Amino acid sequence: MTKIGFLIHKGGVGKTTLAVHLLWWMKEKKIKALGIDFDNQSGLIRLFSGYEWEQGDEPIYRRGSVEVILGAKDNIIYDKSKYDFLIVDGRPEIDVSITLMKQIDFDVIYCPIKGRFSIEGTADIKKVRDAVSPKTKIIAIGNMIDKGWYLKKEFYKALEEMNVPVFKDQIPYTTKIAISEGDGIPIWKVGRYRGTQTRAVEVIKAFCRFNVEKKWEKVEC
Ligand SMILES: Nc1ncnc2c1ncn2[C@@H]1O[C@H](COP(=O)(O)OP(=O)(O)O)[C@@H](O)[C@H]1O
Ligand SMILES: [Mg+2]
Repeated sequence: MTKIGFLIHKGGVGKTTLAVHLLWWMKEKKIKALGIDFDNQSGLIRLFSGYEWEQGDEPIYRRGSVEVILGAKDNIIYDKSKYDFLIVDGRPEIDVSITLMKQIDFDVIYCPIKGRFSIEGTADIKKVRDAVSPKTKIIAIGNMIDKGWYLKKEFYKALEEMNVPVFKDQIPYTTKIAISEGDGIPIWKVGRYRGTQTRAVEVIKAFCRFNVEKKWEKVEC
């Protein structure tokens, strides 16, 4: 089983957005996956279900080849033999998240960095790096990045100094994400794109492929 996590010391950077798109992708490709939602707000499970799942329902939601459970506890029990991928959505309280995440020996952890917070974000990645197993790959991914992003150079420089690889494309800021989130459907199903919106869809799809094909195995740290 391949274990992928989303973790960073910040809320609102795209952890849940990326995790849920990966799960939607796996559902469409009929890949057996388990999503674990560490956030008490249960955003992952609600979003993945298209808001069919509500607080108080059974703490599991199944659709096709994908299951999503609430996992904000110390001993998460799941049947490893049932899934090919495990996708874990962390939460902004990094200490809680790290404690929870230490239960799982991740293959890769993504740290989404929002354009405006990019330099602070790189320092936060170091905390994640120090807390998890050295065997886990830590990869940064730029999200909500505007054209002409003025911090780009500093961002890459800071990551290079920390020896942290970064996903090759940045996800632009696009209102299609809000529509996707509101409707509980992946961005590629929202339809009618142009310009930046098309670019956002392409990058998110490329990110999904990158993970399903385990391309991060070849990323140098
Ligand atoms: N590329 C993007 N463009 C526009 N809005 C985005 C983008 N990525 C995420 N968002 C929005 O930003 C908010 C925070 O994203 P979310 O994935 O919930 O962050 P986190 O899980 O890290 O707290 C959400 O409302 C989401 O719809
Ligand atoms: Mg979240």
